[in-house]
Amino acid sequence: MRILVLGGGAREHAICWKLKQSPRVAKIFCAPGNAGIAQVAELAELIPTDVKAVAGFAMRERIDLVVVGSEGPLAAGVADALDKERIPVFGPRRNAALLESSKAFAKEFMHRHDIPTARYAVFSFEETVECRAFLRHVSYPAVIKADGLAAGKGVVICETEAEATHALDEIFTHRIFGEAGQRIVIEEFMEGEEASVFAITDGVDYAVLAPAQDHKRILDGDRGKNTGGMGAYAPTALVTPEIIEQVKREVIEPVLKGMREESRLYRGVLYCGLMIADGRARVVEFNVRFGDPEAEVVLPLIDGDLAEIFLACAEGHLSSVLPIKAFPATAVTVVIASQGYPESYQTGELISGLESFTQKREIEEGIAIFHGATKLNEHGQFATSGGRVLAVTAVGYEDDLRRTITQAYNAVAQIGFNGAYYRSDIGKKGLKN
Ligand code: AMP
Ligand code: GLY
Repeated sequence: MRILVLGGGAREHAICWKLKQSPRVAKIFCAPGNAGIAQVAELAELIPTDVKAVAGFAMRERIDLVVVGSEGPLAAGVADALDKERIPVFGPRRNAALLESSKAFAKEFMHRHDIPTARYAVFSFEETVECRAFLRHVSYPAVIKADGLAAGKGVVICETEAEATHALDEIFTHRIFGEAGQRIVIEEFMEGEEASVFAITDGVDYAVLAPAQDHKRILDGDRGKNTGGMGAYAPTALVTPEIIEQVKREVIEPVLKGMREESRLYRGVLYCGLMIADGRARVVEFNVRFGDPEAEVVLPLIDGDLAEIFLACAEGHLSSVLPIKAFPATAVTVVIASQGYPESYQTGELISGLESFTQKREIEEGIAIFHGATKLNEHGQFATSGGRVLAVTAVGYEDDLRRTITQAYNAVAQIGFNGAYYRSDIGKKGLKN
């Protein structure tokens, strides 16, 4: 099989790494990839959101499967363009990817299909006056979200009406989220603890992977600014077998049925971002791709041939590879970021310690280093090239999260660069369950 993976972060490194373990895979291309991904795939000079160029490349290179890592290309219609050329793609069509690319669509879809979530209202830019009036009567805290893709930054939690009115001005008048803020969703604030459940699907059948917990804030104890995610662990005991059953029945199955009824072809991953309280889950958000860093812990736990599984989803015969087995293991990933992230930071810092993580150690010690943002400098050494630089991942082949956390941090301690920053409490919240 010849596979093209779209994206260039630690999530895509984990995808390529797992695909490469399949005996059926002859060649992996990744666009744009990064210096770490280049160790397991050939980098292709393609802009993933340029859907025509992607389809052209896939035809020229006789690609058997395209795996889409991030939401941008899906929102741009890459699955539609590939479908037209009859190239199997692991990722939903544009009209199904709206579940992530429009929060207003997602809320209305959940409402139509009776999926548990926070109460909400949608306002467009032309309805600023009505929106202000509405804000006078909602209860606080309330959540204001930009409708469109805003790289995880489009959400403001408002404690008071004054804060909400200020957020509204920022979005509608100062247009801080640009086009993404043409419409907003105002939502009830949900109490509870967050977790993510991933279903992979061919649109009809599905399989649920290990539930995970991300750590979105920059500082220990879930304080400070929101980031793309500073670490994750899986499986999380917060999501009990009963909650998994509830999520299947009340979330995943209605989403897939609703998508079919509305003629939206959904193949790929359904990421259910959940708020859990009193033993029940409600949906915070959907994403139409794997989470980053959740992918780095969820994928290594799959006991199966990822290429075969993704192809079965893309071709519509997932049932042929079910059930998908999971290793009886725990996984922890710690993101090493550049000092200053998620605001401004330096790049080009030389990274030390990576050379000691050989394939032998990967197998013997269960450590895999996924690169999020690295490049080779003029001496051919790894250097930093972005905010989330590395995802240091440990897989402990037993059900002992505490040990796996230690294993991950032991590896983190052996890697360094100027201004390396990481949280020191990744996975800790999983110990209390
Ligand atoms: P989203 O981009 O919709 O996932 O929102 C980003 C983050 O904001 C979530 O991961 C939650 O931590 C928080 N959040 C969003 N919506 C709500 C809500 N209705 N209640 C509580 N927290 C929320
Ligand atoms: N880790 C959160 C996300 O990928 O959206």
